[in-house]
Amino acid sequence: MPQIEHRVELDADLTNPDFSGRVLTPEEIAAGEHRAYVGGVWDTHGKHQLEYLISQGLKPHHKLIDIGCGAFRAGQHFIDYLDAGNYYGVDANHSVMQAGYETELTDEQRAKQPIENLRANDRFDTDFGVKFDFAIANSVFTHVSLNHIRLCMYRLDRVMAPGGSFYATYFVRKKTVPIDEIKPARRRNKGFFTEKNNYVYYREDLRWAAKWGDWSYEYIGDWGHPANQQMVRYTKLTPEQVAARQAAKEHKAGPGRVRRIARRIVG
Ligand SMILES: C[S@@+](CC[C@H](N)C(=O)[O-])C[C@H]1O[C@@H](n2cnc3c(N)ncnc32)[C@H](O)[C@@H]1O
Repeated sequence: MPQIEHRVELDADLTNPDFSGRVLTPEEIAAGEHRAYVGGVWDTHGKHQLEYLISQGLKPHHKLIDIGCGAFRAGQHFIDYLDAGNYYGVDANHSVMQAGYETELTDEQRAKQPIENLRANDRFDTDFGVKFDFAIANSVFTHVSLNHIRLCMYRLDRVMAPGGSFYATYFVRKKTVPIDEIKPARRRNKGFFTEKNNYVYYREDLRWAAKWGDWSYEYIGDWGHPANQQMVRYTKLTPEQVAARQAAKEHKAGPGRVRRIARRIVG
């Protein structure tokens, strides 16, 4: 029976792209489609991520989880820099990870990199049985909903070492942009500021995400991303910091609660 052409267009549905479902053909991989899938800029933006984390204190003995690692644009550099076995990666797309593993990593890198540290998963399953000192999600929060970001923070919270840092990049929606603004797409698939695009966030949205675990939040801003994504840092609190935060909360809630009870009694 003749088959009707079925042409899958990557990100054709901007509001709900199917990151897991995209399967690259051998021809696409040979043509470097896995590089395009992660945004190109292959020769510089991977190295830049490594250099940035080194500037933030990353050392070879640290354990790092690369969330939405794609085809190892940065992973190849992290693998070279970190002690063997300290690089971990998860990504929604198995096909892109496999293409990167087979065609971008050298034999030496593959020998150094345990394959058990790599996992295709779209729900931020980062439980590899270890605690991470560093985590990075470069150009990932630019593709997922706030529900996903919350899930990421919640699950990552359980696997980060106290004091560990999670660096995440995102597209900033300026606070002067009204919530209900409608602005037509400038280019096909690039309507970042229409109400249909779910993936441009206010600073406050990223701060809100820190609620879903024992995190502190810090806006860093420009860090040299080629598409001008800004950086935020979430730091996993130590048990002492968690206790101090809880005590401060109770202290703050205390007089208010007393006032409410007094009002009830008087009124
Ligand atoms: C623009 S690419 C960036 C890849 C990589 N961080 C880099 O810098 O090369 C975004 C990646 O996020 C992945 N992704 C999208 N949704 C995800 C999810 N829910 N969980 C994990 N990865 C996801 C995509 O499959 C894609 O590889």
